[in-house]
Amino acid sequence: MTNVDMNETLNTESKLHQSRFLKACRREPTDRTPIWLMRQAGRYMAEYRAIRAKHSMLEVIQNPQLAAEVTLQPINAFDLDAAIIFSDILPPLMGMGLELDFVKGVGPQLGRCIESPADVEKLTIPKAEDCMGPTLEAIRLVRQELEPRGVPLIGFAGAPFTLACYSIQGGGSKMYEKAKRFMFTYPEAWSQLMHKLVDVVADYLIQQAKSGASALQVFDSWAGVLSAADYVRFIQPYNTRLFQLVQSASVPLINFSTGTSTHLDEVTKCGGDVIGVDWRMPIGKAWEMVGHNHAIQGNLDPTALLGPWEELQLQVDRILDDVGDRPGHIFNLGHGILPPTPIETVKRLAEYVHERTG
Ligand code: CP3
Repeated sequence: MTNVDMNETLNTESKLHQSRFLKACRREPTDRTPIWLMRQAGRYMAEYRAIRAKHSMLEVIQNPQLAAEVTLQPINAFDLDAAIIFSDILPPLMGMGLELDFVKGVGPQLGRCIESPADVEKLTIPKAEDCMGPTLEAIRLVRQELEPRGVPLIGFAGAPFTLACYSIQGGGSKMYEKAKRFMFTYPEAWSQLMHKLVDVVADYLIQQAKSGASALQVFDSWAGVLSAADYVRFIQPYNTRLFQLVQSASVPLINFSTGTSTHLDEVTKCGGDVIGVDWRMPIGKAWEMVGHNHAIQGNLDPTALLGPWEELQLQVDRILDDVGDRPGHIFNLGHGILPPTPIETVKRLAEYVHERTG
């Protein structure tokens, strides 16, 4: 590398470090509130649907060029402050010995799922480079593209509990009653399963940071199916270990869950620099519960993007007023963006959040 190249690299790295999103993760003041949207690459975008018309979900995930392209689609279309790598939380389970398929109109389905303690015994603990190589490569490609533009890339993984739910239930569910029955009936096998998932997820997250992710989000989407007391018994020890292990990646960690408003203090104890919250609680109250020594991410109701602009504006204003000018707020939805969301609304939302906070 020549001196000129070296300086160039240092400049683009510092641009990234000084980005609104990463500053907010560190609770430093920003010129405007950063915004990105969970599931921002997806079916609500025509560009995404065009790629999915030609390739299955797993093909897109397993092809680094396609995954990189889809990751960049919302960044090129809207004024968003961070990208999130295109993949899903479930593919690492294939590396452990389960079968995964995304079925149109049904959602993800897992074959050879876990029914007995013996099935847990059989699960392997693959290295991320062996089971998630294409996603790590996609991260390298996106980083090359986005670093000069000063846009950070978020890596992610499912939390052990949410992955355990899918592994036992075999697919999505309202109550995850099969998974919970297993958890209550076989506490030792449950613990073994969660430990194995922690090992797989920790290595995967660390490798994502090494490949170029500037922050990492853990999705515990279904943590809310447990009571507060059971959260402490069956999730907290494992998430705590996960966040401890992943600290070695030296990037900001986002701890996201839904349905956990009653015990956000216990969620926060697990770890994470940023706590991601759903829309059920006013964000100011949530931040108080989390503690102002953490950054907060959220928490617009995703269905508000389906209604008229005036209603959406009211809800955005409510969130921004509630947060006030305390540094450390990352604007986001309280859960993933919905497929019928109009493109114009997403564009207007990102612009409005920046305008109102500038
Ligand atoms: O842009 C991004 O945010 C990155 C991509 C991303 C996807 N899934 C792509 C996807 C991320 C971060 C996820 C995480 C994920 N996947 C979670 C956690 C977040 C959440 O929403 O709770 C969960 C629970 C899953 C599991 C999953 N994958 C479900 C339940 C479904 C079916 C529901 C649906 O929206 O179709 C998927 C499929 C999926 N993952 C799609 C996308 C774009 C739709 C696939 C398609 O038909 O093209």
